[in-house]
Amino acid sequence: MEKMKKTLIITATIALIGLSAPSFAASEADLEKVGKKIYDRAFGRGCGACHDITTNPQLSKLIKAGTLDKAKFTKIVIEGKNGMPAALKEMMKIKPVVKAGLSEEEAIDAVYKFLSK
Ligand code: HEC
Repeated sequence: MEKMKKTLIITATIALIGLSAPSFAASEADLEKVGKKIYDRAFGRGCGACHDITTNPQLSKLIKAGTLDKAKFTKIVIEGKNGMPAALKEMMKIKPVVKAGLSEEEAIDAVYKFLSK
């Protein structure tokens, strides 16, 4: 009987922690998954519609090479640059982003994480 009480208390605590999490309380792996969806779906056709063309910046390669840091990435995603349209508003519209309740910062983080691995 005592054991059951303990189990109940633990279960209730876990449920509470889950509910009180401010926004996206999922794992890094989940964040990466949403990041992939952003990459595949932003602007309807995805970032890859432009970035998978070899003459445009190869985001994943640049990040891994250390030449595209988070600050520069963030600035260009928000402001756009030449042929690169401002993308944050489009990113925030993606269903998995809305569903996960990501903040703008978390959405940028998610796609950056996806491109970093
Ligand atoms: C319509 C085509 C297009 C789409 C869609 C697009 N980009 Fe771009 N992006 C570009 C072009 C072209 C550049 C190069 C701009 C320049 O430097 O003149 C660029 C540059 C960038 C850069 C800067 C790279 C660097 O090292 O200077 C980042 C970061 C970036 N894009 C992220 C994204 C992300 C994230 C998405 C999807 C949410 C996206 N882009 C969607 C065309 C696009």
